[in-house]
Amino acid sequence: MKILVIGNGGREHALAWKLRQSPHADRIFCAPGNAGTSQIAENVPIRASDLPGLVGFAKQNRVDLTVVGPDDPLAAGIIDLFAAEKLRAFGPDKSAARIESSKIFAKELMRARKIPTAEARTFSNSKEALRYCEQVKFPVVIKADGLALGKGVIIARDSATAKATIDEMMNQHRFGDAGRRIVIEEFLHGTECSMHALLDGKHYVLLESARDHKRAWDGDQGPNTGGMGSFSPANNWNSKLQSLFDSEIMEPLLHGLLQECVTFRGLLYPGLIITRDGPRVLEFNCRFGDPETQALLPRMKSDLLPLLEATIDGTIERCAIEWDARTAVTVVLASAGYPGKYETEKSISGLDEAAKLDDVQIFHAGTKRDGDEVKTAGGRVLAVTALGLTLEAARARAYQAVSRIDFENRHYRRDIALNAVAANVTELL
Ligand code: AMP
Ligand code: GLY
Repeated sequence: MKILVIGNGGREHALAWKLRQSPHADRIFCAPGNAGTSQIAENVPIRASDLPGLVGFAKQNRVDLTVVGPDDPLAAGIIDLFAAEKLRAFGPDKSAARIESSKIFAKELMRARKIPTAEARTFSNSKEALRYCEQVKFPVVIKADGLALGKGVIIARDSATAKATIDEMMNQHRFGDAGRRIVIEEFLHGTECSMHALLDGKHYVLLESARDHKRAWDGDQGPNTGGMGSFSPANNWNSKLQSLFDSEIMEPLLHGLLQECVTFRGLLYPGLIITRDGPRVLEFNCRFGDPETQALLPRMKSDLLPLLEATIDGTIERCAIEWDARTAVTVVLASAGYPGKYETEKSISGLDEAAKLDDVQIFHAGTKRDGDEVKTAGGRVLAVTALGLTLEAARARAYQAVSRIDFENRHYRRDIALNAVAANVTELL
């Protein structure tokens, strides 16, 4: 089979790496890919936002299956374009992708089906939002409605911060169009957990649990990022939570989608907060998590390719996924400045030395090849994953690998999976 993976992050490197192991995969293309994907696949210089370019490439090269990594092309309707050309592609269509691309669509669906989530109000008028802030109980969470790369979420502990945020989002357009409408919601106390489900429209199979570290700095301080590290399995998940998750979240969601005539075929990743009263949905994502995927896929023993195909074909009910019982820990190495304006073009050393360690996998994100060198080319540069019999062993091995890799002003968190038993990782800013 010829496979095209769309995207250029660590998630896409992990997807291409896992698909490479399938006996059914002949050629794998990555558009546009990075220095890591170029070692296991053929990079194609087409950006993930160039939808006609991607459709044209898939047609011309008779690609059998396209796997879409990021949410933007899904929200823009890439699956619909591929379907119109009778091309097979993994991911939800535009209508189903609204579960992530519109927080308001997701909230309304949850409200209608009584899916446990934070109380929330939507505003498209800044004066009304400001007035609402006079009467709420702080802290509150203020979110831009549209996609803002995980950065359009501010936790405001007092009225002054809330008012400044509303002004920035709605009047000064800090997140562009994404902040035209905002959601103000109740702050949930608890620990986060990322669940991934392969959903074929009617049925789903769950992947193992994972946790992400969203804040930029140690101790869960600093701004929100796309994710600075992850580990799997999550230490705050158990079978009791899973049955609550199935009955209170997934089943009503499937009914709700059915009623809205929305068929979701792809990867659904509900971001959860585990509260004292059970799991609450923070958001629904319509694609694999990054960097959760880099911790999950090294633990997946089953071939990923037939699972993606079964999701498209509506036969996921017949599939079971086999997992490595070991723990995976993933540490992200980022460029100085990330998640703000960051540096690029730094030479990266030690990649081969780090890769020599047993049970270590290095996934590239913002990297590019420059002659014989690998250089930084993005905010998140590498995701270093290690497997271990215990969480501590996996952590130690991951940081051993990290210590072998260097680039100027690299930045990473030293506490990935460290406070894994801490009661609350969503501390206030
Ligand atoms: P989101 O993009 O909605 O996932 O939000 C990004 C991050 O903000 C989440 O991963 C949480 O850490 C935090 N967050 C969002 N909403 C809430 C909430 N209602 N209560 C507590 N923390 C939240
Ligand atoms: N790691 C968070 C996300 O992929 O949305």
